[in-house]
Amino acid sequence: MRKARLGILISRTGSNMAALLYASRLPDAAFEVVIVASNNPAAPGLALAAAEGVPVFARDHRGIARADFDALIDAELRRVGVTHVALAGYMRLLSDDFVGNWAGRMVNIHPSLLPAHKGTHVHERVLAAGDSVTGATVHLVTPDLDGGPILGKIRVAVIAGDTPDTLAARVLHAEHQLYPRVVTDLVARRHPA
Ligand code: GRF
Repeated sequence: MRKARLGILISRTGSNMAALLYASRLPDAAFEVVIVASNNPAAPGLALAAAEGVPVFARDHRGIARADFDALIDAELRRVGVTHVALAGYMRLLSDDFVGNWAGRMVNIHPSLLPAHKGTHVHERVLAAGDSVTGATVHLVTPDLDGGPILGKIRVAVIAGDTPDTLAARVLHAEHQLYPRVVTDLVARRHPA
């Protein structure tokens, strides 16, 4: 089967990017990571990607109109033949054009069981709500923030004494399992043998 060509967008640590990258190195992987792009040239994940031999593209978004910045990213993704896009801690709202260009082929991971707790400060809100279970969700990206069709979820128990940081760390472990699985399922739909 022809492998899908995944582009990953990050703004920070990039641990989900790393999970996708290492999953792509397993035998019979359905996708390869062909570029890691960022709006933050200082994102630690870029250094890891580069060290792993993955082409990187970094440009500071400040001072560039959103649509123009997204067009730069879009051009770079197309230049290297990306077929699918994974947002992995990409902390920029995307323009409608960009979202439309990748409709059905762009996913995001969110650290809650959507539709609960869309947006930011998720773990604080999970704890404040007294939830006993949280988790992570992978969804298709649409103009509705954190509201696109859900492709997969994973549950994580909240433990007495959890802080936002301990919960975030445990949810990340679960994210790293979920994201490669869901991307594999998605690209298989689009890449028949
Ligand atoms: C993850 O919790 C992800 O769900 C959210 O941002 C965080 C990114 O972490 N969208 P990392 O950069 O992948 O380590």
